Amino acid sequence: MTTLWKPEILDPANVSDAARIKELMSDSVQLVDHGPALQDEIGKCLPDVKEVSYRIVYYPWRNLALRLPEAGAFHGIRENRNRLKIDDHAAELIHAARVGIVGLSTGYAIAIAMVSLGFQRFRLADFDALELTNLNRIPASLMDIGLNKCVSAARRMAEINPYCDIEIYQDGVNPDNCTDFVAGLDQLIEVCDSFSIKVALRETCRTARVPVIMNTSDRCMLDVERYDQEPERALFHGLAGDLNVATLSNMGADERVGLALRIIVADNVSTGLGASLFEIDRTLQTWPQLSSDVTSGAGAVVDIARHIAVGLPVASGRSFGQSYLDLVQPEPDYASFPSAPPRDTNCATGDLKRDMIAAAKLAPSGGNAQRWHFEWQDNQLELAVSDGVQVAMDIDQRGSLVAVGAAWMNARALAASRRSLGDARLSSGDRALVELGDGDGGLPNYLAEFIPRRMTNRRHLEARGLSVEDIAALKNAAWAEGGELVLFEGEARNSYANFLARAERLRFLSPQLHDDLARELVWPGEEPVRQGLDVRTLELSPPDLEKVKLAMRPDIMAALRERNLGAALGDPVKDAFAAAGLGFVITIEGEGQEAYMRGGAALQRVWLEATCRRLWAQPWSPCFLYAQTGDEAASLMPEELKVEARALHEEWVETVGLGARKAVLSLRMGYGAPPTAVSMRE
Ligand SMILES: Cc1cc2nc3c(=O)[nH]c(=O)nc-3n(C[C@H](O)[C@H](O)[C@H](O)COP(=O)(O)O)c2cc1C
Repeated sequence: MTTLWKPEILDPANVSDAARIKELMSDSVQLVDHGPALQDEIGKCLPDVKEVSYRIVYYPWRNLALRLPEAGAFHGIRENRNRLKIDDHAAELIHAARVGIVGLSTGYAIAIAMVSLGFQRFRLADFDALELTNLNRIPASLMDIGLNKCVSAARRMAEINPYCDIEIYQDGVNPDNCTDFVAGLDQLIEVCDSFSIKVALRETCRTARVPVIMNTSDRCMLDVERYDQEPERALFHGLAGDLNVATLSNMGADERVGLALRIIVADNVSTGLGASLFEIDRTLQTWPQLSSDVTSGAGAVVDIARHIAVGLPVASGRSFGQSYLDLVQPEPDYASFPSAPPRDTNCATGDLKRDMIAAAKLAPSGGNAQRWHFEWQDNQLELAVSDGVQVAMDIDQRGSLVAVGAAWMNARALAASRRSLGDARLSSGDRALVELGDGDGGLPNYLAEFIPRRMTNRRHLEARGLSVEDIAALKNAAWAEGGELVLFEGEARNSYANFLARAERLRFLSPQLHDDLARELVWPGEEPVRQGLDVRTLELSPPDLEKVKLAMRPDIMAALRERNLGAALGDPVKDAFAAAGLGFVITIEGEGQEAYMRGGAALQRVWLEATCRRLWAQPWSPCFLYAQTGDEAASLMPEELKVEARALHEEWVETVGLGARKAVLSLRMGYGAPPTAVSMRE
């Protein structure tokens, strides 16, 4: 088996690479310097790059070396024209996605189109060698006849982009290596001939929650099976009943053929394919595929793969011809959703002092506790934490100070929008002050408009990542108030949610935290609900609300605690973060009460900016969010959970990279439909 399908990438600035280049040159390898030919494009595509560094890329199967820009510059030039169709963030997701392709006939055309589009990480499988009969449809070359198809494809791919990361399975996929092949894939493109391998791959992908795309190269029939989103989904859309590897192994050859026909649905096949099926192994070597079908099918597959890679909504289903675009669901028009119910607090009466207080009240607060006090002293508004019931999580009133800081931000933003803002500062104690004046304190005018529109949205949101522009704007909003965002995107978002799930279990199993939570919730019938968490704002289905009722029972929690069980208590946070664009933590530097108030201002500025960008957020933090030490975290727990709380707190400090910084709040955020219920204010 040949191993010659990976180019060698050599950095002339590296001593051992330089020696290797010298060796190649003395071995009569031809060197072509693409530097001069690329100068013009470099100038146009990378105007900010002063000097591009180069690599020598040696293609052993061609006995040729090229001098090419290093990976970053190479991609910047090669994908330059895509940028308004595929923005930088989407391009990163496409670069990062690992795609498996099984069957390198149709798969050959797909692989080439994928590399051209920008996909870079591949796993290819085919045991077959290239034959002349393959060249009726696949973009290989006469030079490669006799070569394994994966090797031939990998070489062509490397000749388009040498920085691709390609693994190949020259023995093809079989029941023994199927799991290995699928492990770590983000998508599988299944275009092989073997029915049993098709079934085995689907079963493995369903377990591993990997989406499968199949193209049948007849009338451009394309199938999408979103096992990542539907882990219970029947294989082949259920067209073969409850099929799996075990049931298939008990079937005879005729039964299998019948089943395969049921899956492709005999009525759907073109006349040419239908007639050919009677001639296979007689006058035809195998079933027919035209270059036009394979090429247009490849385009459809890559387009679907691109949508899935960037997190755009694609449904499971089957399509023909260009109708594959029907599977790409249009972006939901959120404007057409019923908007959230109106706020009960009006901050636009025109009476500045009243409106500033109303704006301050519209700030978020943990459990909607509104532990704050706002008072005008002449032309100065004073905001502070009020007396009232304190919950255990609110260690040293840190959460209440965050809420006061958010209220302070709102009052400033409202005064700024009317050019009536004077001095605004935080005292070193627990007071926040806003004086009236005639300026805007450098605050953007538009923030105030979003004060009543900002609200906690606990609905499931889109899993699509945030655009780079949105992320940059949120970071800037945090910085403007001295805060910083620690982002958890993609896989990191899921690991972060798994961490939160473990902390969530502790929240339910700690009697004092559980008691606080139960007192926070306001159930229908307990009106008026001007304070506390109206359960309608939890956006839960009736069965899930029943689960909440069970989880609110101290006896049930005690039973779980005694047996060291209850991992399922963390499931809702995992589901919620899976249904969000990202998770993030806001952190702040500094000490004492002032730091938490400043953190609250950063939180609110980020949240207002997000609202303006049609992004929704829901805070969801570990129960020891405001513990600065392991001891403080342990103080929230009963004896048997103290060790676990300390360990989780340590993990939290490390995961967020807190160091001396303070955690302000942890949230999930994403695009989606408005909430159906809103919180009220006293
Ligand atoms: C410090 C703090 C902690 C919060 N923690 C949570 C939380 O763990 N889960 C949640 O769903 N909402 C949380 N929230 C959101 C509040 O419940 C919400 O702000 C409050 O109910 C008012 O609703 P609104 O944000 O829609 O105005 C938190 C808010 C703050 C300021």
